[in-house]
Amino acid sequence: MAHAAELYVQEDSATAMMGSYGSAVRLVADAAAEILVLWATNQPAMRQHNSFVRQSSHSLSLDTCGHLLSILQSPSSMGTPGVTGAVMWDSGVVLAKFIEHAVDSKRLLLKGKKVVELGSGCGLIGCVAAILGASVILTDLHDRLKLLKKNVDANVGNQGNVRGSARVMELTWGDDLGPVFLNPLPDFVIGSDVIYSEDAVRDLIQTLRQLSGTHTTIFLAGELRNDAVLECFLEAAMEVFQIGYIDQAQWHPEYRSQRVVLFVLVKKLGQEKNVI
Ligand SMILES: C[S@@+](CC[C@H](N)C(=O)[O-])C[C@H]1O[C@@H](n2cnc3c(N)ncnc32)[C@H](O)[C@@H]1O
Repeated sequence: MAHAAELYVQEDSATAMMGSYGSAVRLVADAAAEILVLWATNQPAMRQHNSFVRQSSHSLSLDTCGHLLSILQSPSSMGTPGVTGAVMWDSGVVLAKFIEHAVDSKRLLLKGKKVVELGSGCGLIGCVAAILGASVILTDLHDRLKLLKKNVDANVGNQGNVRGSARVMELTWGDDLGPVFLNPLPDFVIGSDVIYSEDAVRDLIQTLRQLSGTHTTIFLAGELRNDAVLECFLEAAMEVFQIGYIDQAQWHPEYRSQRVVLFVLVKKLGQEKNVI
């Protein structure tokens, strides 16, 4: 598998192998053009959203790697101003099943790898990565950690068929990170629906930048909900990262949605200074 520094562009099209992901992806060259293409081809406003989750339910069950995960949600928190992550959206399920499918089809190796999940919310994706063999740190804001810990304990703690490990830690985007995150830098950083507010973009990118070394591969799933926010993120992230769009053909065949987008990011060479 190619590493960030070995990224190459095929001659006939703008695709490339990126980081430790074993399939070619389409390179994102221009943020505004990408948004136009995504909204024109996916027509998100015309599509049903949340096909894979029920936000009014207190738990979500998902079969992953032969393991029935039960993820608690807190529907009553949805009305609390400023609180997100208390219930799942489709992008989280899509990213979790994409990771499972990529491991199954040998395009991704998680066993023994260090993974940091940002804005874990209910924790589904980090739990799946741990079941697949990674050492995962699931992170979120301080007041989100109680539900997250409950879900990690219930789904990963002391389960015989979990190959890796999972722990929960507070991480606020933009804050300086401690050695547990940086030494060594993670092999993978993952996050779903973390691009949802223009105000948070700068801090999110600062954290992605701090967590990324030359061997780090980032997977981000997004909801096609707000074109301005996604464009703002892509434009700022492209200064630091090479971004690839992962085509739905590479997703889990039963978990595809026109309202969700998956990107892979690797740090550009020469971006070693972690300040934007
Ligand atoms: C829309 S939710 C997505 C949650 C989860 N990844 C999912 O897909 O269900 C966004 C998550 O990012 C977290 N978050 C928002 N701003 C943050 C910040 N500044 N630092 C750390 N986490 C943040 C929220 O607490 C929430 O869990």
